[in-house]
Amino acid sequence: MKTISVLNQKGGVGKTTISVNLAAALSRKGKSVLLLDCDPQASALDWANARGEVEQLFPVVGCPKPTVHKVVGDIARDKDFVVIDGAPRVTDLSRSCIMASDLVLIPVQPSPYDIWASEEIVNLIKEAMIYKPGLQAAFVITRRIPNTAIGRDVASALETFELPILESTIAQRVIYAESASVGLSVQEQDKKSAAAQEVNALTQEVLSILKE
Ligand SMILES: Nc1ncnc2c1ncn2[C@@H]1O[C@H](COP(=O)(O)OP(=O)(O)O)[C@@H](O)[C@H]1O
Ligand SMILES: [Mg+2]
Repeated sequence: MKTISVLNQKGGVGKTTISVNLAAALSRKGKSVLLLDCDPQASALDWANARGEVEQLFPVVGCPKPTVHKVVGDIARDKDFVVIDGAPRVTDLSRSCIMASDLVLIPVQPSPYDIWASEEIVNLIKEAMIYKPGLQAAFVITRRIPNTAIGRDVASALETFELPILESTIAQRVIYAESASVGLSVQEQDKKSAAAQEVNALTQEVLSILKE
């Protein structure tokens, strides 16, 4: 079992969007997946509920408690992957999610302000790395305006954190919000879409980081 958490103390950066689509892409590849919703706002659970009659791709379980790292093994014993959708703000919850993880993805929007705001989660991750040497973490650029390069100011702001940045990025696309409103992944909504392709690329990159 490998655990990937999607964390940033800032809200609205795309944690839930990445979590549900990454979980969906992994399950599409034949992996058994559990999506753990650790946000008290329970957006991933809302996403699953919005599916209505459509069969669930994977179970979504709510666990907004700072004991995630202690219980994740029991909750997801038979799964290949656990994807954790993290909470904004709550530090003890984020710390618990980090301790539960093999890989932490940090979504950041390509603006220096957003990158500076990720300092808090980066510090928590670096602290955890002392006790958990195998822990990996990487930034994911989200909500990028299509056909624009990541600005030099953004790249240099990210460099100061000394964590890798995934090559795959997630663009700002209407399909992310549209598919979420009906509880679908972008791949289910339109498997040929640019969004489906970038989610696929992200998933491949995550699998290669985890050597899966
Ligand atoms: N790449 C994207 N393109 C368009 N809309 C997005 C994208 N990522 C997130 N959103 C929208 O922005 C809002 C916040 O995203 P969400 O994934 O819920 O962020 P978080 O979980 O970090 O608070 C949602 O309405 C979501 O549909
Ligand atoms: Mg969320």
